[in-house]
Amino acid sequence: MPKTFENITNIVLEAADKARKEIDADKISSYVSAPVEWPVECTVGPGLEGAIACETKIGYVSGKQGNLVYRGYNIFDLCAHSTYEEVAYLLLHGNLPNAERLSEFKSKLAEFRYLPKTLRLLMGFPLEDMNAMAALRMGTNLMRQHQTERDLMQAKVDRTKVISSDDDSVDTHEKVRGEQRAVYEFRDPKANRPARRKAKRDLQQAKGVESCYHLIAGVSTLTAAIARIQRGSLPIEPDPELGHAANLLYMMTGKRPTREAERVMDIALILHADHGMNASTFAAMVVASTLSDIYFSIGSGIAALNGPLHGGANEEVLKTLREIADPKRVDGWYASARKNRRKIMGFGHRVYKAYDPRARVLAPLADYLVNKSGDAEAKNLLKIASGLETRVVADLGASKGIFPNVDFYSGLMYSSMGIPSEMFTPIFAVSRVAGWTARVLEYMKSNRIFRPRATYVGEISRGFTPLADR
Ligand code: ACO
Repeated sequence: MPKTFENITNIVLEAADKARKEIDADKISSYVSAPVEWPVECTVGPGLEGAIACETKIGYVSGKQGNLVYRGYNIFDLCAHSTYEEVAYLLLHGNLPNAERLSEFKSKLAEFRYLPKTLRLLMGFPLEDMNAMAALRMGTNLMRQHQTERDLMQAKVDRTKVISSDDDSVDTHEKVRGEQRAVYEFRDPKANRPARRKAKRDLQQAKGVESCYHLIAGVSTLTAAIARIQRGSLPIEPDPELGHAANLLYMMTGKRPTREAERVMDIALILHADHGMNASTFAAMVVASTLSDIYFSIGSGIAALNGPLHGGANEEVLKTLREIADPKRVDGWYASARKNRRKIMGFGHRVYKAYDPRARVLAPLADYLVNKSGDAEAKNLLKIASGLETRVVADLGASKGIFPNVDFYSGLMYSSMGIPSEMFTPIFAVSRVAGWTARVLEYMKSNRIFRPRATYVGEISRGFTPLADR
């Protein structure tokens, strides 16, 4: 094993060891509950805090312990011993793949990473002026178009059996260039309808696991392409020899990454792959629950992830550290932020009231990469981050359960790998698409449309005032 690769694994193992000493494993197993008997009684706070909406076998987050489990496997073990592809497969299918399944899955991802048509469409938009997450969201919509067409093509008849017609009743992609009218009609239009309908229905019901693979592969290609286009370069085709993390870095930079960079990115992707019923996962599930399709559903997840209270916080953290500018200013800056009731980005979590296990891994990785880079600005920001962590934890750790979350150190880590800050949240999406798709698939098995209620506290009977009298 190369030395650098080993270094990274050792960092993860050390972080895991430290965390495990603080986590009481016996308590964790006693938390896992029996199947829910509906209707379930739970205390619900604003923002649906505490509400139980479904059962899941995908992932478990212990907020009190600061523990994260995917399908029964501890996040630290997955980081230390597996790859993003194995984890994505695990989330979707319930078990770690054997060598054969993994190889099939990787081949599928390699195939789906090529998105020439989607990228051509995407490049018709002014991406250089757009928010990267907006561009990514649009890209998944364009992927949908591609996949819809692909599905319909698969279910379509042999073209030799079609005849020319003046009838304007066929799919637009059948149109031959230069013709003014639709030109094909099936000899027996009814003969193939069931298959075509089925393809469409599968897609609409978001059951197609192929669409999930397509999205997992494609969101990465889109992210890399957006990163390049926004910096004035053209997208690069994926390299079929490389894995998911390496391809992401390669398609962004045009250079094959070092084994160390690949490993770090792989761990970052594993850490972000799933996290309970967080806002973006819930958004994706709500959309899927209407029997819309998985592409719309993932687009909604991307939209929700963009917010600064969610995935957008990693970009905000770097802004905060730059705003503080000097490690000596941490105390003064913090006092003023508290006085102004300002939220400190990268701290706090709806579920974790203990140290976020993902931050436990990301903090030493950021430290390692920043110190290795020798970059003075990065070292300065790291010092500020460490000072801010000490300050926030001393003040709000014990009293309010506020500790660094996954977003606090990820930005520092990515920037030390040369990744521009506007790509931090899209990279989060590259990873989380595995959790989104897995949870949507799981929920669709016993789908019920999401429909909470609100308590009406407005007026109930106002007399209508005509416009002229208002
Ligand atoms: N800085 C300072 N105080 C905080 C912070 C913070 N980052 N987070 C929570 N608090 C305080 C609140 O001011 C509030 O105090 P109060 O009781 O005196 O009013 C209390 O803790 C509870 O805060 P809420 O906002 O009600 O907690 P909630 O569970 O709704 O929000 C959230 C969780 C959104 C993550 C919040 O902690 C936050 O805004 N953090 C900063 C943004 C951030 O880092 N987001 C990334 C989260 S991880 C992820 O989504 C991938």
